[in-house]
Amino acid sequence: MTDATVTESPDFDVPDHVPAELVRVFDHFNEPGLKANPVTFYDEIRRSDHPTFWSPVFGGFWVLTRFDDIKTVLQDAEGFKNEHMSFPGKSVWPRKLIPVELDPPLHMPYKTVEAKALSPVKVRDLAPAITTDVKELLQPILDNGSCEFFHDFAQPMPTTVFCRLFGLPIEQATTFLQWETDLIHGSQHGDSATLRLEAGLKIQSYLEGLIADRLENPVDDLISMFTQSEVHGRRMTPDETLDMCYQLFIAGLDTVTSALSFCFSFLATHPEHRRQLYEDPSLVPNAIEELMRTHSFISGNRVAQADVEVGGVLIKKGETVLYALASGSRDESLVEHADTVDFTREGIKHLAFGIGPHRCVGSHLARMQLQIVMREWFAATEDFELAEDAEIVYRPAGSSGIIHLPLVVTPRAVDAGASA
Ligand code: HEM
Repeated sequence: MTDATVTESPDFDVPDHVPAELVRVFDHFNEPGLKANPVTFYDEIRRSDHPTFWSPVFGGFWVLTRFDDIKTVLQDAEGFKNEHMSFPGKSVWPRKLIPVELDPPLHMPYKTVEAKALSPVKVRDLAPAITTDVKELLQPILDNGSCEFFHDFAQPMPTTVFCRLFGLPIEQATTFLQWETDLIHGSQHGDSATLRLEAGLKIQSYLEGLIADRLENPVDDLISMFTQSEVHGRRMTPDETLDMCYQLFIAGLDTVTSALSFCFSFLATHPEHRRQLYEDPSLVPNAIEELMRTHSFISGNRVAQADVEVGGVLIKKGETVLYALASGSRDESLVEHADTVDFTREGIKHLAFGIGPHRCVGSHLARMQLQIVMREWFAATEDFELAEDAEIVYRPAGSSGIIHLPLVVTPRAVDAGASA
C-alpha cells in the first residue's frame, strides 16, 4: 500500500483517528487497478495487513474488503444507514430511491410489495417470453459468427426483460436502452452531467405517464399492482410508486448487463470451463453461482451512526463506508481455494446480491435471466471465444462492468435429420 499513501498527496486532509498506514488514495470510479482488472484487484489488499483502508478522496471514506466486515456493516441497518449516496455522479434522482435509500422500519413495507412482484412464481411466468427475446438477440450473432458482446447482447437483453416486467411493448426496449446508456454510461460522453440529467427526466416523465394511466385503468401488471398496494396502513402514493419504478430501472438493467459480461468474459477465455458446460448443461445454475461468487461487482456505501470499531479500525459517527462485494465474495474465510473457479463446487456462498435488509429483491429475476441466456447460448453454439488480439475493456464504478468484449462465435451445425 505504500505507493499510494496520502503522505505523497499533501492536498488531502486526513482525520486524526486514521493511522497513516491505513491511508490509500483510491477512487472506485477511476482507480487504475480496477480499470486493469476489477475481478482480482482487491485480492492483494484483502490479504494484506491492512484489508480496511481510508481513502481521502470525495471528503474521505473507509473501504471494507473482508467478508466478515462487510457482513457486519450490511446487517446492521441501525448502525450504518443507507443515506443519500454521497459519491459524485451517483444519482440524478431528486428524492430517495425506494427501497434502497430508506432505512428500517420505513423500508420493509415497500420491499414486501416488490418482493411479491418479483417472487419466484411471478418471475417464472416471464420465462417463455424472455427465452423468445434471447433467441431473437442471439440469431444475428449466430448469422455473423461474431459479436461485440456488450453492445450486441449484454446491454439490450435486460431492457427487453424490463419491457416484459412492466407489460410494455417490446419496441420500447430501444428507447429504454438509449436512456439507460445516457443515464448510467453518460460519463463516457462529452457533456455527461447534462446527458444524465436529461435521461433521468425522460425516464421520470415516461414513468409518471404510465403510473397516471394505470391509476385510471388498472391492468394485471407491475405498476398497477404497486399503485394498488398498501404501505404503512395506507395506499401507496404515485410519487412512491415512481421512486420504486425508477429504482427498478437503475437496479435491474446495468446489473444484469454486468453479470452477463463478467460470466461470458470468463467463459470466453477459459476453454475447459466452456467444455464442461457444453458436455453437461445441468451444471449451468451452479456455474452461474460460482461466477457470481468470483465476479461480484457492486460497491455501495453506508454512513456510520455512531463511533464503532469494525475489523480493527475505528469508524467515527458520520463517516462513509464503502463495501466492495468484488472482494467480500472472494474471501478465503467464505470458501476454500477461493480463487479457483469450480463449477462443481457445492453449497456456494457469495455476496453478489448483498446481505441484510437491503439484499437484492431482484435476485430471482436476475438468476433466471442468466440461466436462460446461458442455456440458449450453449444450445445454439458449438463454441465461442475472445476474438484474436481483442482486449477486454473494464468500466470501474459503483456497479462495475465490461464495455468491450469481442467474441468469435461458432454456431451449432443444423441437424438436417432433425428437421426432416
Ligand atoms: C446480477 C444482477 C444483480 C445484482 C448483482 C444485484 C445486486 C444487488 C445488490 C448488491 C443489492 C444491495 C445493495 C445494498 O445493500 O446497498 C441490490 C439491491 C436491489 N436490487 Fe439488485 N442486483 C441485480 C439485479 C437486480 C434486478 C434484475 C432487479 C429488479 C428488476 C434488482 C432490484 C434491486 C432492488 C429493488 C434493490 C434494493 C433492495 C432493498 O433496498 O431492499 N436487482 N441488488
